[in-house]
Amino acid sequence: MSQPSILILNGPNLNLLGKREPTVYGTLSFEDFFKELQNRYPSVNLIYQQSNIEGELINTIHQYGFEVKGIVFNPGAYTHTSVALRDAIQAIVSPVVEVHISQVHAREEFRHVSHIGAVSKGTISGLGLQGYVYAIDFLLNLGN
Ligand code: DQA
Repeated sequence: MSQPSILILNGPNLNLLGKREPTVYGTLSFEDFFKELQNRYPSVNLIYQQSNIEGELINTIHQYGFEVKGIVFNPGAYTHTSVALRDAIQAIVSPVVEVHISQVHAREEFRHVSHIGAVSKGTISGLGLQGYVYAIDFLLNLGN
């Protein structure tokens, strides 16, 4: 059996993890965390992409969304604004888990709305970077 592939896709400003508001998002960069994930899942083809540009995120969802076992998606602030990202997820076949590092429901009211949740298998919010681990475990155990 070939290795399962999982896409981890991060949206705007998440390239600054480790530097950006460390009291909210922690001090680890995503690149360093990704190395930890690769060590944790040696038999999984983990793919990591990040973009600050909505259209690039859409293109990446189109590119991988018909071939990977699942997508772990942190859309950043586009969560709260982007109907186009919602439509992109609805157009693909790979299941998506929405992940937020911070607990969006304990923050400003505009963060309580997600366009992504309704088209995702589930949402993990507020568990820090550990949320990505839970999302990967969930997707790996799906019978798709
Ligand atoms: C975030 C929460 C969003 O509201 C915010 O705009 C982000 C990060 C999170 O991971 O907690 O950029 O998605």
